[in-house]
Amino acid sequence: MIGENRGTMKKIAVLTSGGDAPGMNSAIRAVVYSASCMGIETIGILRGYDGLIDWETRALTKNDVRDINNRGGTILYSSRCERFFEETYRKQAAEQLRANGIDALVAIGGDGTMRGAIDLGKEGVNVICIPGTIDRDVSCSEYTLGFDTAANTATDAIDRIRDSSISHGRCSVVEVMGRKRGYIALWAGMAASADAIVLPEKWDGNFDHIMDMLRKHHAEGRDSYLVVVAEGVTDAAELANLILKETGIESRVSELGYIQRGGSPTAKDRMYGSLMGAYAVELLKEGKANQMVAIKNDLLISYNLEEALDIQNNELDSFQYQLSLSLSE
Ligand code: F6P
Repeated sequence: MIGENRGTMKKIAVLTSGGDAPGMNSAIRAVVYSASCMGIETIGILRGYDGLIDWETRALTKNDVRDINNRGGTILYSSRCERFFEETYRKQAAEQLRANGIDALVAIGGDGTMRGAIDLGKEGVNVICIPGTIDRDVSCSEYTLGFDTAANTATDAIDRIRDSSISHGRCSVVEVMGRKRGYIALWAGMAASADAIVLPEKWDGNFDHIMDMLRKHHAEGRDSYLVVVAEGVTDAAELANLILKETGIESRVSELGYIQRGGSPTAKDRMYGSLMGAYAVELLKEGKANQMVAIKNDLLISYNLEEALDIQNNELDSFQYQLSLSLSE
């Protein structure tokens, strides 16, 4: 039984699952280094929960991970594992860990990874989760790995788009990632002084506010216009057509896409990845399991995984949201 090894660990595994996020490599690196310092061997599971089911692995030593802090993506690859929705495969995954003498698993990913980890816990596996997703959609944690890099990449791209909008006096409708959570749109939109930001948490299907704001700014003689839209909220091309029809402002669409997931992580993502990875191993050393690493008031803490799931919500920071409205006036 995996649980019987608590406090006397010999071998742990680490995987990355769901959408890749800058900073995941720093977390992997810190897991390997921390484990190695305690005389614990680390096995890397490839391609997330898919690799766990099929036991696709590679041993990880300090040498293997020494120089990965600056690399985007994840050296362990990732997947969105459909099979993990089926109990048979989850049991197979747990059995793989047992058969290979793994005392605990560190799973790095977002909401879906956390749910998978809860199910693995029910199969008797000791799991620690690290929040890694550019969407910042793990509510129990103030930070998720990758968000800072993604928000900065989006801001930089929008700044470049703005240069061209100014030259042509156009409106740019920029679609950013964040299917269910609008933090990338909110932060990049505010950072790039958007005229309007369309967020999944706040969208009521009414375009009036956007059009009113653009008309007002047009009347003030602005040299360019910017609307940032979180993907999946509304069709960016339709919105651009509507802007032309309703306000007379020529509009162009830019979809930033996967550029936001790639690239070298910012110092913040490298630092938080390192902190979270080391903390995950520390929790295991203390004999804790089925925990979610989180940041609260800028400190590392952990929640029981079920408790972390209960905290999940789709609320946006209301002060940040209100500020985004007043700063777009
Ligand atoms: O990882 C988060 C995310 O990038 C979301 O912002 C986006 O909606 C989704 O993943 C895209 O997923 P996929 O990689 O499966 O296309």
